[in-house]
This record gives sequence, structure tokens and C-alpha cells, in this order.
Amino acid sequence: MMALPRPGQIAVKNIGPFDLGRLARLHRGCFEDGWSRSDIAHLLSLPGSFGLIARCYERGLSAIDGLRGVGFAICRVVRDESELLSIGVLQPWRQRGVAGTLLEAAMARAHAAGAETMFLEVAVDNVPAQTLYEMHRFQRVGTRLDYYHRPDGRKISAYTMKASLYEPRSTVTSD
Ligand SMILES: CC(C)(COP(=O)(O)OP(=O)(O)OC[C@H]1O[C@@H](n2cnc3c(N)ncnc32)[C@H](O)[C@@H]1OP(=O)(O)O)[C@@H](O)C(=O)NCCC(=O)NCCS
Repeated sequence: MMALPRPGQIAVKNIGPFDLGRLARLHRGCFEDGWSRSDIAHLLSLPGSFGLIARCYERGLSAIDGLRGVGFAICRVVRDESELLSIGVLQPWRQRGVAGTLLEAAMARAHAAGAETMFLEVAVDNVPAQTLYEMHRFQRVGTRLDYYHRPDGRKISAYTMKASLYEPRSTVTSD
């Protein structure tokens, strides 16, 4: 039996094969150059890859109808290292702790799979994401010049950030 989040609560679930379309829609809703369903299917087929979806319960709707997929995280674990490949939350649901909940769940799952560290890249002008990562124990360890190519043709550098995966707090639900 699926455990439904209570109104206002954030629940995180593992992505299954039936979630690929939903995940692609969420990615497109968060990034100008969103990934396609087949891009995501390919990423998740790589050994050690996993995806998470955050769902919130909207007040005023019945239990099942009220569940909304509002954010996602995609990661990969290779031996004792992991990488956060992408994370995003739909605009109306931002700054309510959804990404923080997803990030902690991803760190816990990567740790359970044997990873001792997690790496990520973040654009140098993406201050909200940098603040999020710093709040969750990530530190800058390098800079990659012209790492991202924006849809308008601009190139933008990225910081590499790293966190140790100690004392993770898991929030993944069982369904
Ligand atoms: C970055 C992103 C994932 C944050 O999602 P979120 O659900 O709003 O994040 P949270 O609510 O968990 O925020 C956690 C902390 O991050 C920081 N933060 C988040 N959004 C912020 C903003 N717009 N400005 C400043 N700090 C911000 C805050 O410190 C926040 O904690 P607080 O609300 O207690 O102050 C979201 O803005 C997003 O999807 N952006 C577009 C996609 C993207 O840039 N992904 C990251 C690519 S590397």
C-alpha cells in the first residue's frame, strides 16, 4: 500500500520505468534545454544510476488526485564516488525545502550504494543552487571553464562541488 504524504508534506520516491515521461516533463519545466524522455532513459540505464521524484500533496483535492510530482534528482554511483547529474523543482514549489529533501534522499541512497563522496557541477551564476548545495555540506573544489552551453549560445563556467556522505538522513518512501 502506497504511503501518501499529508497536506504540505514532501514525499520522495524512486523513479520506475513508468515515471520516465513525468520526469522528462519535470526536467523541461525546470531547465530551458530540458532533457528528452530518451535522454533520461539512457542515463538511468547506466550502471549505478538512479532517479528520485518529489511529490507534494495539494490541499483541497482527494488523496490520490492531490499528489503532484514537483521535483526530481538524477544521480550516478560509481564505486565509492557519486555524482548529482541533475536536480530541479517546478517554479511554484520552490523555496519550500523540496530540493533540500531530494538532495538529502539522493545522498542517503548514494551512501547506501557504497559512495563516500558526491560531486556536482553548478553554473557560476546559479546562486540559488550554490546556496542549496552549501547548506547541504557541499564545498567548492574547482572550476570548469565554459562548461555549460546555454541555448542562447553563451558559454558559462561551472564550479565543481563535493560533499562527504556521512550521517545521511533518508527520506525515500517505500512505494
Ligand atoms: C536550485 C533549485 C533546485 C532549488 O530548489 P528549492 O526547492 O527552491 O530549494 P529549497 O527550498 O530546498 O532551498 C534550500 C535552500 O537553498 C537556498 N535557495 C533556494 N532557492 C533560492 C533562491 N532563489 N535564492 C537564494 N537562495 C535560495 C536557500 O538557502 C534555501 O534555504 P531557505 O529557504 O531555508 O533559505 C531550484 O531553484 C531549481 O529548480 N532551479 C532551476 C534548476 C536548477 O538550477 N537546478 C540546479 C542545477 S545545478
